[in-house]
This record gives sequence, C-alpha cells and structure tokens, in this order.
Amino acid sequence: MAPPPCFCLLLVMAVFATCHARPLVEDADGKMTTQPLQPSVISCSTAGNYTDGSPYHVNLYQLLSAIPMSADSNGFFNGTFGTAGDEVFGLFMCYASDTDPECQDCLDHAPGGIMKLCPHSRTVRAVYESCTLRYSDESFFSVADLSIADSVDLSFAPQPEQTPYRSRYYQEPYETWYNGGVLVGYVVDTEGLSHKRFELLRRLTVKAGQVDQRIAEGTQGFTNTQWVRAVVQCTRDLPASECTRCLSYYTDQLPGLFPNNSGGAIKGSSCYLRYAVLVDKPRQVRLERYLYSEKYEGRKNERERKIAEEHREQRRKVAIIASIVTIAVALKVCLLVLSVRFVLYRWRRWVAEARVAMRSYPEKTLKQEAYYHGKVVYQDELEKGTGPRRFTYNELAAATDGLWEQARRRRLRVRVSGVLQ
Ligand SMILES: *[C@@H]1O[C@H](CO)[C@@H](O)[C@H](O)[C@H]1NC(C)=O
Ligand SMILES: *[C@@H]1O[C@H](CO)[C@@H](O)[C@H](O)[C@H]1NC(C)=O
Ligand SMILES: *[C@@H]1O[C@H](CO)[C@@H](O)[C@H](O)[C@H]1NC(C)=O
Repeated sequence: MAPPPCFCLLLVMAVFATCHARPLVEDADGKMTTQPLQPSVISCSTAGNYTDGSPYHVNLYQLLSAIPMSADSNGFFNGTFGTAGDEVFGLFMCYASDTDPECQDCLDHAPGGIMKLCPHSRTVRAVYESCTLRYSDESFFSVADLSIADSVDLSFAPQPEQTPYRSRYYQEPYETWYNGGVLVGYVVDTEGLSHKRFELLRRLTVKAGQVDQRIAEGTQGFTNTQWVRAVVQCTRDLPASECTRCLSYYTDQLPGLFPNNSGGAIKGSSCYLRYAVLVDKPRQVRLERYLYSEKYEGRKNERERKIAEEHREQRRKVAIIASIVTIAVALKVCLLVLSVRFVLYRWRRWVAEARVAMRSYPEKTLKQEAYYHGKVVYQDELEKGTGPRRFTYNELAAATDGLWEQARRRRLRVRVSGVLQ
C-alpha cells in the first residue's frame, strides 16, 4: 500500500528535523546515516495494531521525531501528540550513570529506529544500554511501572582504563560514573555488602524524591579500603512517592539478584539503580546528569559551569545596560516632571499675583469703609441709605460745634455719637 502524500511529507519533515537536531553518524563507508539502535529488552503490544498512515501512526512519528530535539539536558522527555482517540504518550530517559555521548547516541538512534522493531504496535517499552524509550495510546505518566526490564551483572564489567569511551563529539574520553577503580568479581562479606548497599540506597532514594531531576548519587564506606557507590534515578514525571515506591522495590530485589556481586544495575521504564564497589578513594564524579551528589552537592561539571558563567555574564551585561537605560529614563522623567512643575508653579504664582493685583484696589476701599460701629457694612447699603448714614467732615464739624476740629488738631481720637432728628 502506498502511503498518502501528506504522510510522506511528514516523514520527510521528521527526518529533516532529526538530521538537523543532532549530528549524524559516520558509518564504515564514511556515509552519513542514522542507524537504528538495538535495545537489550523490548516489548511490543500485539493487540489493536494501528495501520500505516493512520492518524495514530502520524502522531507517533511526530512524537518520536520530536524527542531528540525536545529532550532536556539530562536526556529526559515526556510528551504527547495528537488529540483524544489518536493521542500518543511518549517518554524517553537516559540512564544517569552513562556519559553524555552515550546519552546522545541513544537520543539520536533509539526513537528513530523503534518503529522498525515494533511496526504496528500501539504500546512499546524498550530498554537500551543507556536509555529507555516508551510510548502508548494511554497516559502512563505519574505512575511508576515496577517491572524490572533488565538486570545487569557488572561484577566483571570492563574497566574504563582499558576501554575509555571516546566520543565522536568530544575530544576527551569521558569518565565513568564511579570515576576510579572498581572491584572486579565477588565480595566475601555478602552480609556487609547487603547492609551497606541498602543503607546507601535508602538514603539516595529519599534524595531522588526531593530533587526535580529525580537523580541521586552517593558513596558509603564498606571495608577499610572499599566503598559502595550507587546512583538512583526515576523518570521526572513521577511524584516523590511513586519514585520511592519504584526504587524501594528495586532495592529489595538486589540481595536476590546480586548477593555478592561487586557491581550491578536494575533497569526499568520508570526507575533505575546501579551500584559498584570502589577500591580507590572516591573521587568527584563529573557527569552532567548528577545534579544531586551526596559528596559534591551543588557542584556541576566545567562545561555546565562555563555555560552558567556565560549566562551570568550576559545577564550582568543586560542588567547593566538595563539599569543605565532605566536611570537615564528616570532622570529624563524627573527633569520633565520638575520643569512641568516649575512652569506650573510659575503660572500659578503669576495667576495668583494677577488676582491679588486685580482684587487689591476694591478690597482696600472696601476695608476702609466697610466697618461702622464695629459691624460689617456694605458699600451699596451706605450709598442707598438703607444702612447707617454717612456724614461729610463739614457736617460733623458743624454738628459738634467745632469740637471735632479741636480734636483733630490735637490728634485725639474722638468718638462721636448722637441722635439724628
Ligand atoms: C510530563 O509528566 C508530567 C507529570 O505527570 C505531566 O504533568 C506533564 O504534563 C507531562 N508532559 C507532557 C508534555 O505531557
Ligand atoms: C501487531 O504488530 C506486531 C508488531 O509490532 C505484530 O507482531 C503482531 O502480530 C501484530 N498483531 C496483529 C493482531 O496483527
Ligand atoms: C558469590 O556468588 C556466586 C553465585 O551465587 C557463588 O558461586 C560464589 O561462591 C559466591 N562467592 C562468595 C565469595 O560468596
């Protein structure tokens, strides 16, 4: 059956996007290809298969091609595509003990190749060497899947000194998660290992529930010259309680799976744990995904620090420019406000002065004539004769028989009262 053209376009777009998101891999002939990655464990649903070109198929394709671009710096992705009925839920997680280049390889090849491995399955769970990938037509977020997909005996794991992982993308060989010498083979003190391992994992499980990354790493003394180091991890969608439930279950399986083994890992779709017995004094672990480390809490590797520093520097520059601009603008505004206020002040003063000037003449005359016998008298009353009567100087002088004149000459104050007839 020929796929419909729109699907082909989507396919081309998806491939294009994938190619541009991550570097391509050079194969033996020097050709650039994206190779499918072989999972160590895979389970494909067999019921209710989707058909080629169906909406579910398209949504699944979109989801899978979005993963390499959308995964966060820890190599985690959870997301959905499509609407009810044809919605696809997907999750991708790099296991915390693996190096960045290993995580990158997983991101580049696992999502791209999985559809070839389970061609029509709606629900798939796959566990790879360094990552896990899962999708379904039902939401599985927030609930832990306790099933153990893979348990790996690492008692005889090759030493990093013999096989340093040289990345295609980085010049330096990456250090392993335990960073130092590990014990090879079996331990004698099975009880002691079980006890110390349990103590450490219980502590780390609590820590993983407390940090957003759901990753914790730490070390515990075992013998005088040996240490147990472990890393625990949950998918980031899990609440602390579910993360604890998953890791506690895995921890309980350890004595049965790895009673005296010097190293081991349990991998699942929801959580992960790994431990090793160290024979070197524990040193700092420089993997990016260790956002919580007991011994080196808060420390990040140099690349991350450098990026953070650059960001800080940029932020600092932006902040300086922003404050300069703000100060300049503030000064301008202040100046503007001040000048407007000054102009207003001057205007008000001028208006006030003008008013005073306009009022002062009538007010003065009013004041001189507005009191009679200590009472307020209005000018018009005086003029109309309805109020108290006004007398001229000569009238008063005549009426008081010259007394008035005498008083005036001696500068006496005289109060005249009389009765009008
Ligand atoms: C990822 O999981 C969280 C927790 O369950 C959920 O709230 C969130 O919506 C998921 N992200 C997407 C893109 O679906
Ligand atoms: C569904 O697809 C899977 C491959 O992903 C295949 O093995 C299985 O037989 C298919 N089931 C049906 C009923 O066709
Ligand atoms: C460790 O376990 C293996 C496998 O169970 C067993 O063969 C071996 O004898 C054990 N070694 C010690 C030292 O207990």
